[in-house]
Amino acid sequence: MAGETAVLNKTKKIDVVIGTRPEAIKMAPVILELRRRESFAVRVIATGQHTDMLRQALGYFSLAPDADLGIMKDRQTLDHITSSVLLGVGGLFDGDPPDAALVHGDTSTTFASALAAFYRRIPIGHVEAGLRSFDMSRPFPEEMNRVFADRLATWHFAPTELSRENLLREGARNGRIYVTGNTVVDALHATLERLAGSVPDADFARKLSGRAFILLTAHRRESWGEPLGRICRSLLEVLERHPGLMALVPMHKNPAVREVMRGFFEKNERIILSDPLDYPDFVWAMNSCALIMSDSGGVQEEATTLRKPALILRDVTERPEAVEQGSCVLVGTDGPRVVSEASAILAGGRACRMLMERCSRNPFGDGLASSRIADALL
Ligand code: UD1
Ligand code: UDP
Repeated sequence: MAGETAVLNKTKKIDVVIGTRPEAIKMAPVILELRRRESFAVRVIATGQHTDMLRQALGYFSLAPDADLGIMKDRQTLDHITSSVLLGVGGLFDGDPPDAALVHGDTSTTFASALAAFYRRIPIGHVEAGLRSFDMSRPFPEEMNRVFADRLATWHFAPTELSRENLLREGARNGRIYVTGNTVVDALHATLERLAGSVPDADFARKLSGRAFILLTAHRRESWGEPLGRICRSLLEVLERHPGLMALVPMHKNPAVREVMRGFFEKNERIILSDPLDYPDFVWAMNSCALIMSDSGGVQEEATTLRKPALILRDVTERPEAVEQGSCVLVGTDGPRVVSEASAILAGGRACRMLMERCSRNPFGDGLASSRIADALL
């Protein structure tokens, strides 16, 4: 009996492994929640798949990695990320084995660190489990990364009922699936509360000076090359059709993306090109713009949570809940389609229909996902 109590009271060592900006934003509320509870000792491992973008996101939550593998290379390959993370995270696990490892989402960090844990029989919790586009080439390689991570995981923290169903269909055990909501809603709610309606004291906000604007982000591997060119040309055409409208384009740090965007936008006075925005500034921009255009995964959940019209610049999505709820429209990267959908929203028709749906429940959760994950881990 006494022995049992000792086991129950033992602090659990949890390694949280993150590599990129969205993993930092979406795992920050989980790390903070676990650290609030005495039952857990949390080590934050950064693989360094992203460097400045990861630190920028973590910094906002007053977090810093306890270990950083610093693996990033300019224009890195998938082989490089996967092999360096496997070796690097594996080495850290060997040096100080945790009771469990938490990974998030669908990046190469997610897959390779889950594999490193699996090789050592360390139980794995996969946060944001079960999303599926059912197309292994879109998003690439993320769809397969997420499938691999789900297969390797012991506990699945599924954000929605649909993601739970996807996991069950693939044979995951029901008792190991926890429908928690998406932790991005936790991060977003906390940030909106901190913003309390204030306007960022930043260059981009001064340049916008209260004018209506489109917010554009694009970075996906399947968008590189011609699709990104079509996205850029579409934005230019939408601006031409709507005099007075501005655009804010916070560029991902990937040089393959920045070179293309600079080529199209640098000389345009109505387009503000910037480095990645701090998370609260980006939240302000999403909340304040007339329209979001993005190929991002997380932005689909955030636009839905904020009830903001968004054009999803992809052909398929692993987040169909965003499209069903009404605020996100899946438009691909075909120029005429993007321009006509953007114009329809800016003219008010679709936006009005979406307004009607504003009372519908947020499919991505209620802001309590992190505490459900901590409860489940206990
Ligand atoms: C990665 C993820 C993608 C996720 C995205 C979030 C994979 C395969 N891809 O894609 O799922 O949506 O992160 O943003 O895991 N770079 C910097 N500084 C940084 C970050 C990136 O300079 O802080 C540059 C480097 O040149 C790097 C390149 O961007 O080689 C690409 O980074 P990488 O992580 O390979 O791909 P992402 O497109 O960021
Ligand atoms: N984001 C940010 N600053 C920016 C652009 C995006 O903080 O300039 C945030 C955004 O709010 C979301 C996350 O980064 O939470 C999305 O990251 P990204 O689009 O790079 O990755 P994905 O979600 O597509 O994997």
